[in-house]
Amino acid sequence: MGRIAYVNGRFTPHAEAFVHIEDRGYQFADAVYEVWAVFGGKLADPEGHFARLERSLGELSIPMPMTRKALTLVLKETLRRNRITEGLVYLQVSRGVAPRDHAFPKEEVRPAVIITANPVDRAASEARAAKGVAVVTTPENRWGRCDIKTVGLLPNALAKQKAREAGAVEAWFVDDLGLVTEGASSNAWIIDGDGILRTRDTNANILRGVTRLSLLEVAREAGLKVEERPFTPEEAVAAREAFITGAGTLVLPVVKVDGKLVGDGVPGPVAARLRRLYIERAKATAV
Ligand code: PDD
Repeated sequence: MGRIAYVNGRFTPHAEAFVHIEDRGYQFADAVYEVWAVFGGKLADPEGHFARLERSLGELSIPMPMTRKALTLVLKETLRRNRITEGLVYLQVSRGVAPRDHAFPKEEVRPAVIITANPVDRAASEARAAKGVAVVTTPENRWGRCDIKTVGLLPNALAKQKAREAGAVEAWFVDDLGLVTEGASSNAWIIDGDGILRTRDTNANILRGVTRLSLLEVAREAGLKVEERPFTPEEAVAAREAFITGAGTLVLPVVKVDGKLVGDGVPGPVAARLRRLYIERAKATAV
């Protein structure tokens, strides 16, 4: 059975799934997206992702293309048609198709909706988490609204390529003050020398990660000391542990920053525990 995509109301073979050349997502990155982790065919952190989707769309004055309930059904039907129980589901909503003009179309257009799904090999991702990954740093060069989850990801793509060429898995953006903002597709965390779990606050120009928010709750419930406070790459190297979070990575230990070992260069117990607790919670609350 081949892959199936959802495009504007229709399920289509993936190889034949196309959007119009004047889709504003294609021409202006005038589109937002969401990615859900999928456990047992269910969507992880549904409330967080739907709330952020509505917020991203609202900030761009793009209407919700359908209700949360209808979207949930279509997302899950996409998973079903692709026979995916463990994986990721991707939703993109653009302003729609209109003759090229920077300002919004004068006539009302219908948002364009696409959905794709991909399986994840859980055993392979557990093995990766057990080993930990390397990150590199790169100067922050993105626009001022990283809180909106738009498909305008060129700086993120370039940063990720830099990471890949250095044999790393993620790139951390570092701002003018020398503080880590976030990863190219994840949020960044450390457990500092005092045992405090730290991640950057959302007053900064970062994406409000849904996994980040859930993990803050998990960590507080687990009795950890938590501070939403930024850190430098040097502090990450000097930290007891470091990790990244996201729908794709869940909680993934970082063992190297710019070639320097974090702690003794192996994943630590806190990240491993948080990963386990996060996954348990995500499975229990998935819809
Ligand atoms: N990325 N920061 C950025 C820049 C991201 O792109 C992402 C997610 C995150 C983590 O957010 P969440 O926990 O809500 O997944 C933080 C997705 C997975 C992606 O682009 O594929």
